[in-house]
Amino acid sequence: MKRDSRLPGFYKLTIEKRLAAAAQALGIGTEELKTALGSGGLSPETADKISENVLGTYALPFSLALNFLVNDSDYLVPMAVEEPSVVAAASNAAKMIRAGGGFIAESDQSIMIGQVLLQGVPDAKAAEKALLGKKAELIAQGNQAQPELVQVGGGMRDLQARDLGEGMFAAHLLIDCRDAMGANMVNTICEKLAPAIAQLCRGRTVMRILTNLCDQRLVRVTCRVPPDALPAEGFTGEEVRDGVIAASRIAERDRYRATTHNKGIMNGIDAVVIATGNDWRAVEAGAHSFAARGEGYAPLCTWRADPQGRLTGRLEMPLALGTIGGTSRAHPGAKLALRILGVTGARELAMVAASVGMASNLAALRALASEGIQRGHMRLHARSQK
Ligand code: MEV
Repeated sequence: MKRDSRLPGFYKLTIEKRLAAAAQALGIGTEELKTALGSGGLSPETADKISENVLGTYALPFSLALNFLVNDSDYLVPMAVEEPSVVAAASNAAKMIRAGGGFIAESDQSIMIGQVLLQGVPDAKAAEKALLGKKAELIAQGNQAQPELVQVGGGMRDLQARDLGEGMFAAHLLIDCRDAMGANMVNTICEKLAPAIAQLCRGRTVMRILTNLCDQRLVRVTCRVPPDALPAEGFTGEEVRDGVIAASRIAERDRYRATTHNKGIMNGIDAVVIATGNDWRAVEAGAHSFAARGEGYAPLCTWRADPQGRLTGRLEMPLALGTIGGTSRAHPGAKLALRILGVTGARELAMVAASVGMASNLAALRALASEGIQRGHMRLHARSQK
C-alpha cells in the first residue's frame, strides 16, 4: 500500500484517535496496533525468552515521525525515545527537507567484517602471502558454515590481511549479511575459519569476532532545502541557512562541538534502531569510530549552500541494521515497527534511519542557530511534568 506520511494535526489528537488515524494511514487494524503496543510491545513471557533473570519489561514512548520522503517514497517512521521534542523536531525538519524534494539516500551492500585476531605471528609478510594464497579455499569453507546465507544471495566475499605489529595480525573476513545485522553469522564463520587461518599464519588465535566498525556497510544521505522552508521566529530563511552552515563548520573543526552535533544525529537514528529491535550499542560504537577515522573526530553530517542558495546536507556513516533474525523476530513491538515502516530489507531501513538522523541534526542546528534549543525543548518537557 502506498503511504502518505503527512498527517496534519496528528500531534493534537488523543492517543485513542491517533491510533485510529495511524491505523487508517497504515492499513493496519486499530485493535492490532493497540494489542501490539499495549504492554510496550513485549509481554513478560516473551521478555523472559529474550533475556535472563527477567523481572518484567521496561517501556519507552513509541511514536510516529511524519513527513519523511526518502527516494520519492513516503514513510511513517516508528521511533522509541524518551527525550521530549526528538520526534516533533525530526518531523518538522522532514517537512522542510520535503519542500526541497526529500532525502536522497543510498546504501552499500550489507558487508560486515569478521576479525580473526592472532598473536605470535613470526613473519607478517609471509603470513599475508600464505593467507591470500588460500583465499578461494577459505571463502568456500566459510560459505559452507552458512549455507542459508548463501542461499539468499549472501556469503563471504573477500579475505584481507592486516599486520598489527609485534607479532599481532588480523585476518578480515568480508561477509555479505543481506537483510540480517549479521553478528551471529559473522562470528560463526570466524570461528570456523580461525584454525586454518592460524595455521597458515603460524600464529595463535586470540579472538574471533565481528568488528562494529562496519565501514563497508555505509549509508549516504543528501538533501537540499530552499531557504523559504527554513525561517524561524525572528530569523529569515537565509539567516537560518547561514547559521546552520556556521554550526556545521564549527563542528568540523572542534571535537567538543562535533560530539554534541553527532549526539543530535543519533537522537533520531537510535530511536528508529530501538523501535525496530536493532542493536543500538553496535550502531553507536560504529558511528563514533567512523567519526574518528581521520585525524580528529568529525561530524557525521555536514551542511553548505549550493549555487542556488539552497541549504545542502550530506551524511555518511556505517549502519548495520537487520530486518530479519535477532530481536526483530522475537519482539512483537519491533515486528510491528518494521511493518509500519514497510521496508523491503535492511538497506532500505538503513536509508530511512539515516534520513531521520539528518532531520534530527537539521532541527537541532536550526533551533541552535535561531531562538535556541531551550524554548521548544522546555515547552515539550513541561508537558511531561504536569
Ligand atoms: C540534545 O539531545 C541534542 C542537541 O544537543 C544536539 C546539538 O547540539 O546539535 C540539541
